[in-house]
Amino acid sequence: MRTLSPEPGEVDLAERYAYPADTTWMRANMVASLDGAAQRDGRSGGLGNAADRHLFLLLRGLADVVIVGAGTVRAEGYGPVRPSEGWDGVRDGRPPVPPIAIASRTLDLDFDAPIFTEARVPTIVLATATADPVRLKAARERADVIIAGRDSLDFPAAVRELAARGHRRLLCEGGPGVLAQVVAAGLLDELCLTLSPILLGGHPARILNGPPVPVPPEMTLAHALQDEDLLFLRYTRSR
Ligand SMILES: NC(=O)c1ccc[n+]([C@@H]2O[C@H](COP(=O)([O-])OP(=O)(O)OC[C@H]3O[C@@H](n4cnc5c(N)ncnc54)[C@H](OP(=O)(O)O)[C@@H]3O)[C@@H](O)[C@H]2O)c1
Repeated sequence: MRTLSPEPGEVDLAERYAYPADTTWMRANMVASLDGAAQRDGRSGGLGNAADRHLFLLLRGLADVVIVGAGTVRAEGYGPVRPSEGWDGVRDGRPPVPPIAIASRTLDLDFDAPIFTEARVPTIVLATATADPVRLKAARERADVIIAGRDSLDFPAAVRELAARGHRRLLCEGGPGVLAQVVAAGLLDELCLTLSPILLGGHPARILNGPPVPVPPEMTLAHALQDEDLLFLRYTRSR
């Protein structure tokens, strides 16, 4: 065992979190309490601090697309991605913001909400072939719809479609239901986990909420950063 000695000076986060070149890469960014809760009062916002928010926005800037479950869109009132401070240079040669890609079976989404009407780059809906046709039509009027899977989203097929549109730097913002399936499908390359210094108890979801992962990926610690009493852990899949 050894101590992680603090590095002197500021860390260049854009450099530390740069995606590997020339490959499709799925990163997830999640926050959890010390006892593993992924939610506080039904949301994740109460778990982070300003540095976590800064990293959350920077990781969006680095990504080609932000994948998120409809549960999180509804719980957190997701809007479209907007350009942020600290993005200088990170989007050179790319659209000003990454689109959000929402995974949904029911398509129980408000297509008049800003996430659809005010998006600088059209929001993507990851839908299934058996989705309600009326809602599918509404989705098509406001979003770029990708059909992947019949009754349940086929996540590998959805990722292939996103990559075919040039979205190879993938960022999954959860929630726990979607992340569990991304991991179960063997799609996760990297987990950025913010560890928040609080103990919550109760029965909130962990960062993965689903059945046991058939082939649990083993992860390698790429770095550990600290701000206040929070740890910012970056793990990549062991090859
Ligand atoms: N700690 C963190 O870092 C973090 C991050 C994100 C969210 N959260 C928290 O997690 C909670 C939400 O998470 P959640 O697990 O309930 O929701 P979620 O994973 O964000 O979304 C679940 C929804 O995604 C759609 N979906 C999932 N699997 C699907 C499949 N196989 N096929 C088609 N659609 C599929 C369904 O949408 P439809 O119902 O529309 O069919 C499902 O209800 C909130 O409290 C949020 O604040 C925490």
